[in-house]
Formats: sequence, structure tokens, C-alpha cells
Amino acid sequence: MSRKTPLEELRTRRERARLGGGEKRIAKQHAQGKLTARERIEKLLDPHSFDEIGSLATHHIHEFGMDDKRFPGDGVVTGFGTIEGQRVAVYAQDFTVLGGSFSEMQANKISRLLDLAREAGIPFIGLIESGGARIQEGVRGLAGYGRLFTRNVLASGVIPQIAVVMGPAAGGSVYSPALMDFIIMVDKTSHMFLTGPDVIKTVTGEDVTFEELGGARVHNEKSGVAHFIAANEEEALQLVRRILSYLPPNNAEMPPRAQPKSPPAELVEGLNHVIPEEEDQAYDIHDVLNRIVDPDSFLEVQPHFARNAVVGFARLDGWPVGIVANQPAFLAGVLDIDSSDKIARFVRLCDAYNLPVITFIDCPGFLPGVGQEHGGIIRHGAKVVYAYVEATVPKISIVLRKAIGGAYIAMSSKEMRTDLALAWPTAQIATMGAEGAVRILYRRELAQAEDPQKLAQEFEADYREKILNPFVAAELFYIDEVIEPKETRRRLIRALHVLRSKVQTNPPKKHGLMPV
Ligand code: HXC
Repeated sequence: MSRKTPLEELRTRRERARLGGGEKRIAKQHAQGKLTARERIEKLLDPHSFDEIGSLATHHIHEFGMDDKRFPGDGVVTGFGTIEGQRVAVYAQDFTVLGGSFSEMQANKISRLLDLAREAGIPFIGLIESGGARIQEGVRGLAGYGRLFTRNVLASGVIPQIAVVMGPAAGGSVYSPALMDFIIMVDKTSHMFLTGPDVIKTVTGEDVTFEELGGARVHNEKSGVAHFIAANEEEALQLVRRILSYLPPNNAEMPPRAQPKSPPAELVEGLNHVIPEEEDQAYDIHDVLNRIVDPDSFLEVQPHFARNAVVGFARLDGWPVGIVANQPAFLAGVLDIDSSDKIARFVRLCDAYNLPVITFIDCPGFLPGVGQEHGGIIRHGAKVVYAYVEATVPKISIVLRKAIGGAYIAMSSKEMRTDLALAWPTAQIATMGAEGAVRILYRRELAQAEDPQKLAQEFEADYREKILNPFVAAELFYIDEVIEPKETRRRLIRALHVLRSKVQTNPPKKHGLMPV
């Protein structure tokens, strides 16, 4: 029998690596509506741009029959490629190999990739499908997680890190995504949990399905762990490309400008009438945002979680910006525990990657209630203040309607290092609304009045004139300028032009104590 030439040997090994866990398991993966690791990478990257490293590396465990379960690559594909011509590092776990379980060698491969990505200053993307720490490896896999988590943390705020969960992510496999900037989950096929339904049944007696426990909907709507839900794998991978279009490759560079586009003139003009005449009537903040930012440029982040706040990326004159807004159409746009977390995290993300933050305010304040107080609204609400003050990127705020009490202060108020504080003529800036204020200030007078309702209306009108309007705040210079709503886009674009070279620093320190 003739021996293989070195070239033949290489080709044979490469073919084995390409097949992962084998044809049968690949067919099973497809039957479940899932792509393989390599197919995912191909769909994510620009055509033919992927260069793999570590395709022949594998584990060296002999116990538990592992000598027969040695696969080149060891269940993870790692390498470099491009997205819209920009360099990225990517890894994809291969579920056909031992359930994508996380081994010492997986840790070595992914950690090396992340080290190289951080040093090169390029985004890092993980396509995750894994049964967690490889049970046969004991401490090796656990220590490997420690190595990877360390690198996730050190790269945090240096290079964008995006996790796409495309199947099960169990045990330790949830914490690397949780340490990254974004988690995208695929509806129905992805699940994230620390311990699965069987363990939960044993420990707490609760009966729960994978979907109810850690499905894409749960983590996008309830837990706030995930940031996006995609209908299928293709959509999830396209989302990664779209997210990266707003971000610089690393924190030392500026976000990339796209072709500027303006909304149609009639849409911009319509802004003057977008706030309802009735002051408690709801409206959808998206209707405001879409009349201001470049058409089709708004990408909402966490759209299904804490819907009383809206955060996301957009472009103004082609330049990427971060948008934070209250949503009057949901719980009147109130600030609560979850929306505080959502806003604070997003502001810090923008600050890390040099995206200006534009804040649109229509908020009646913090949500009152025992549940909120006992849940720590003081601690969570403080995050919003902390994030805004700490951020050194350009910050612009616009009060559309209510900026009542804590909402005025917390939502990028001028005194919290906001560069430009604007208000629409409909703005109401005060400690509390007219009705509440009059009830407290004139309790005695109203109790003795012949017609308390009429008197209350008079007091309210007086309160509106003396306090509850933007002109008082503008006269005191707590608002820089009151503008017509239809001028907003133009003002923002010009202000950002001025602020592009803004330099601001924080006092030297190891780190502050973000109220987590
Ligand atoms: C080794 C594993 C594995 C693991 C799955 N496999 N998880 N092998 N270590 N952690 C193997 C299975 O034995 C099986 O091999 C193959 O992968 C496919 O798995 P299935 O169970 O057939 O697939 P499926 O029915 O789709 O279920 C997927 C799953 C389930 C939900 C992920 O496999 C599962 O519950 N796995 C264990 C999850 C877990 O508890 N992991 C440890 C976490 S502890 P064969 O050869 O039979 O096809 C941890 C430590 C850190 O991670 C904790 C930090 C908080």
C-alpha cells in the first residue's frame, strides 16, 4: 500500500475537519432547521474571505472512550474574514462534534483568536451552540471558561464583541455571551440557561420547557439578557453585519459614516404637530424619531424589553449616533428598574465606541410602588445618572413634553455634562405635574373653597405659566434653546458637527463604582 504524500495527508485531514461530527450529524442539524458552523461563517462573512486557524487542533483526553472521539478542530471553527471589507475575527461552535461542548482546546483556540482580535483592534464575533463545559474534561473545561471570560472582560469596550446564540447555550456557555456587547438569539432554535429543565425539576420541583426557561422570547422580553431576536439564522447573521455598520472597529477609532439621506420635507414639517394636544395622550416615539434621523437608519436595540424606553442606533447626515428615548405609548414612558438598566447599558456602550448620545425626553418620572422600591429602583435608577455623567462623548438632550422630577435630572440634563440641552415649546419641566402640585400647595385653600374644581383650575393655570413650561428653564439657562420641533434634525446635525472634536476626560482613577 502506497503511503500518502504530505499534500494528500493535509487534504485528508482538512476534509475530516470540514466534516466535523460527520454526515449523519450534519443531516440532523439541517433537519432541525439549523446550519452547520462552517455554513454559518460562510453566510456571515464576505464571500471567500475566511481564513481558518486551528483547524487541526484537538483534545488529548484518553478516558471515557475519548480516544475514539477525536475530531480535528475539536468542535469549534476559528479564524478571520471580512464584513463589508472590514476585518473581523469569528468563531463558530460545531454542535455535531460532542454537542459543541467547551473543552480545554476550544478555550485555547477561542482565547487566542480574541487576543489577536484585541491586539489588531477588530470586532470579535461568536456563533454559539454548545452543551456547556465538556463533562469528560473536568477541570480543564472549567479553567478554559475562566481563560475566555478573562479575555472577554479585557476586550470589553476595546473591540465590539457580538454573540449569536444559534442553538443551546448551556452552563458556562452563557457567560461568555453575557460578557460581550450584544446577544442575538434565533427564535425557537436557541436557548440559554445555566441549568436545564431536568436539574430544575430535581432541585426546585418546577416543570418548565427549554423554550419557557431560556428561549429567545424569554430573554428578549423578560430577562433582558438578549438584545435581538431573529426569525431565523440568516436574519441573525445579517443583523451582525448591520450592527457593525454603526460601530468603529475599536475604541480608538470613530464610527464609519454612511451615505447621508434626509427624510422627506413633509415628514420633517409634520413634527410640529406630532405631540397630541391633550397632554396625557400617548403617541409613539418612533413616529418622532423617524422624522428626524436618516430614513431607515434606526436600528432598535432590545426592542422587546422594557418597552417604556427606546434605545438604538441611527444616523444623522450619515454619521452614526446612539438614540435614547422615553416611549409615551408604553407605561407613559415612565422610568422603572428595567428601563433604567436598559438605558444605562446603552449609554455606556455608546460612550465606549465614540457614538454621540441623543436623548429624547417625555417622561413622567420614576415609577412609584412597593415592588419598584423593594426591587432597588434607587440602585437601578442611579445607573442612568452614572452612565450619563461618566460618558464623555457628545451628548444632546431634547425635552419633547414631560421632564418631571427625577426624569428631568436623570435623562441627560444640562448639569450632567450634557453639551446641548434643547426643548420643544410643548416641554413641561418641573418637580411634578400641575394637578399634583396644586393639590399639595393649596390643600387648605381648596378644602375651604366654594367651587374647589374651578379654583384648582385657576391655580393650575398659574402653575403652568410660572413653572411648567420650557421658557422658565430657558430664561434660567437650564435649557440652552427652545426650538420648533421641525428644526430638530437641522439643529442636531449642526451641533454634532461642532461637537465632533469634543475632548472631555474623567478624573484619573482605577474605576468608579457603577451602582450595579
Ligand atoms: C460532553 C456533551 C455535553 C457536555 C452535550 N453533549 N453536552 N458532551 N459534555 N456538556 C453531547 C451529548 O452527549 C451528545 O452526544 C451530543 O453532545 C448531542 O447532545 P444531545 O443531548 O443529544 O442533544 P440535544 O438533545 O439537542 O440536547 C442538547 C443539550 C443537552 C440541551 C445541550 O445535551 C444537555 O443538556 N447537555 C448538558 C448541559 C449541561 O448541563 N452542561 C454542563 C454545564 S456545567 P452523543 O454522542 O450521545 O450524540 C458548565 C460549567 C460552568 O458549563 C458553569 C458556570 C455557571
